[in-house]
Amino acid sequence: MTEKAKVDMEKIVSLCRRRGFVFPSSEIYGGLSSCWDYGPLGVELKRNIKQAWWQSIVQERDDMVGLDASILMHPQTWEASGHIKGFTDPLVECKNCHLRWRSDDLKSSNCPTCGGELTEPRLFNLMFKTFIGPIEEEASVVYLRPETAQGIFVNFQNVVNTTRRRLPFGIAQIGKSFRNEVTTGNFIFRCREFEQMEIEFFVKPGTDDKWFDYWVEERLNWYAKLGIKRENLKLRQHAKEELAHYARKCYDINYLFPMGWSELEGIANRGDFDLVQHASSSGKSLDYFDEESKEHFTPYIIEPSAGVDRSVLAVLCDAYDEEPDKDEIRVLLHLHPSLAPIKVAVLPLSRREKLVKLAKEIYADLRPGWMVSYDDAQSIGRRYRRQDETGTPFCVTIDFQSLEDAQVTIRERDSMNQIRVPIGELKTTLGAKLSGEPLFVLPPGGQIWKK
Ligand code: GAP
Repeated sequence: MTEKAKVDMEKIVSLCRRRGFVFPSSEIYGGLSSCWDYGPLGVELKRNIKQAWWQSIVQERDDMVGLDASILMHPQTWEASGHIKGFTDPLVECKNCHLRWRSDDLKSSNCPTCGGELTEPRLFNLMFKTFIGPIEEEASVVYLRPETAQGIFVNFQNVVNTTRRRLPFGIAQIGKSFRNEVTTGNFIFRCREFEQMEIEFFVKPGTDDKWFDYWVEERLNWYAKLGIKRENLKLRQHAKEELAHYARKCYDINYLFPMGWSELEGIANRGDFDLVQHASSSGKSLDYFDEESKEHFTPYIIEPSAGVDRSVLAVLCDAYDEEPDKDEIRVLLHLHPSLAPIKVAVLPLSRREKLVKLAKEIYADLRPGWMVSYDDAQSIGRRYRRQDETGTPFCVTIDFQSLEDAQVTIRERDSMNQIRVPIGELKTTLGAKLSGEPLFVLPPGGQIWKK
């Protein structure tokens, strides 16, 4: 039996719906299959994941630059890349209920829904077609890109010329991709519109194996640094016969999703396939001149390609937890502070005017630094639970004593421990705790409040 994660998908979908992480696309019209909208909390989580990736890949490295290429590209791109010919799935249709399936996903030769007879498989291209300009004719066909990678390859020479980069170096890009997937489902795991975070790392041929191993290690460590449990991550090497047409070698980083081990990121050694193809199709040289050896050659490419939506799902599944809480259950997300959509919630103990005034002042003071929320509805216990469920690392409670001693309580999500700190020390203290300082390291005048 396939190994499955402890959390089931229904709980994740229900939490996402209930708390505004993810909604079905155009829901008031009945939704659109495999398209999803990120709500107020989802958009923050997604932005934080992309920011963490950009920071570690582009900002903190001296061998990487960023790019934002357009989604629509010259149609010749897709001839050269092999997508027009080869980006296909074998599709069969049930002659009885007319549902369509990927034949390589099926375990029997009949329709899994009604048992009906299936048509012979035909190849179905996964690229979405549209038209550029006002005339819908064959000559004006363009495609919504199915991967961001090609925008990087066709800009290789532009980047080398404008940045004077020497090998080895990489170009990184985050952006939307589109695939008219035949098999969909599993929530945001497989969408028709999704986001990718892709690196194309250009190296001298002969050093590619070393760089491949380096990137596999780097990317595994990145997920672990964001708090994903190492035991929920696993490498899977592609067998020779399943390698994509461009790949010499490929590893998937698999995550233990609720439906079982599935691909979170792919890392491929693409050799010189892409640059050679685009050079021959465009007639423009995409060679590199190595100053040291005075040689011209086509670089090899190592490609770590991650999905933003799959990262969101993996982060949510990994963080999800339930704890007994008196007669109820406390649902909480142990999100890494850097990923939590809301960093701090400001909670006045009551709606009395004086308390609200102070709480609103604190709320306004914290907002320029972090995403902060304000909640004064229902009991304090219920408010803490609401914040726990969306992964807010810290709550700041303002009570009547705050009006007398100018101190407030900071309550930590995971331990539920509390400290009391002077309002003047609040911002620095929260900053330190959000960066990982233990809760009980107290600022001047602070005290342990409850354990
Ligand atoms: N440029 C290489 C490339 O696109 P891929 O394995 O097809 O390789 C890379 O895709 C990553 O993009 C996957 O590991 C996955 O995280 C994400 N991805 C691919 N198809 C997806 C889909 N239909 N929905 C959500 N994410 C997808």
